[in-house]
Amino acid sequence: MYSIEVKDLTKRYGDFTAVDHISFKVEKGEIFGLLGPNGAGKTTTIKMLTGLTPPTEGDAIVSGFSVKEKPIEVKSRIGWISSEVILDDDLTAWENLEIQARLTGVKNWKERSLDLLKYFGIAEFKDRKTGKFSTGMRKKLEVSMALLNSPEVIFMDEPTIGLDVNTRATMWNLIREINRDYQVTILLTTHYMEEADSLCSKIGIINKGKIIALGSPEELKSRYGGDMIEIELKEKDKLKFDIQNAIISDSRVRIKVNNAESSLMDIIKAIGDNNIKTVRIQKSSLDTVFINLTGGSIEEQDFDARKFYAMIRRARR
Ligand SMILES: Nc1ncnc2c1ncn2[C@@H]1O[C@H](COP(=O)(O)OP(=O)(O)O)[C@@H](O)[C@H]1O
Ligand SMILES: [Mg+2]
Repeated sequence: MYSIEVKDLTKRYGDFTAVDHISFKVEKGEIFGLLGPNGAGKTTTIKMLTGLTPPTEGDAIVSGFSVKEKPIEVKSRIGWISSEVILDDDLTAWENLEIQARLTGVKNWKERSLDLLKYFGIAEFKDRKTGKFSTGMRKKLEVSMALLNSPEVIFMDEPTIGLDVNTRATMWNLIREINRDYQVTILLTTHYMEEADSLCSKIGIINKGKIIALGSPEELKSRYGGDMIEIELKEKDKLKFDIQNAIISDSRVRIKVNNAESSLMDIIKAIGDNNIKTVRIQKSSLDTVFINLTGGSIEEQDFDARKFYAMIRRARR
């Protein structure tokens, strides 16, 4: 059973292709992560999947309905949390929920709202203006609003961007809890590798509008990752060995291996332990995966994107 089936989904703005024939499926109850740098096409994908903008090409079936043919059906059946502010701070939590109920056409909203507020432990603050809420409370209310219409799927666009470490941890727990207790399928986007690694059962890595890898974090790491063993030598001149995938610079030897623990002894023997000063192991991460696939890290790409936007802003002035 799939909650989301994406086929050749494409979005073009003029000549520019923001999302380029992406295809993937999300099983019911799964937490699926779309991981990629700034400008990769994550928000554009979410906008198409939530019926907010029509695809130029391709289609997606979300909760049983085509986003191309039936965007209104899709919109009424899903929950959505944007990275931007969605609460009206002049209103109370209860009033925000009422507006959400009207927008999504939920009839028994009072009962449902109270249940949700109790579940998240913020029922006693229901008549307080959300302007006075802490970030953690706001997140709980936003998630309550997304769950109000009992959606099968919730979309979250960069749910933890700009949050401090503690609130990010709170949000991660919220995501895991609603996935478990409300059996809701979650599609989230992120450019934080640890976030995708820790939360998602399946990840699509997106870069320049294309999905370049798809699988569980473990699958991706074993397929495209690899551990790194870094050895500092006492005397580099004494180096007399031939090891595959070794990069030597000065007195430092870096060796790419599938599994560091199982290769370490052989490598130490080959180099000779009397010539080794230090040994360091770097386990495979999603960052290694992204670097191996694209030649750069997600952060580096983010940095380029920021420079690029700053340049555009200057040009517009
Ligand atoms: N309305 C639009 N018109 C033109 N280009 C757009 C529009 N929306 C997004 N883009 C471009 O599409 C690309 C993908 O953007 P976006 O989906 O927001 O990326 P992400 O969310 O991964 O950072 C970017 O290069 C962005 O500048
Ligand atoms: Mg975005």
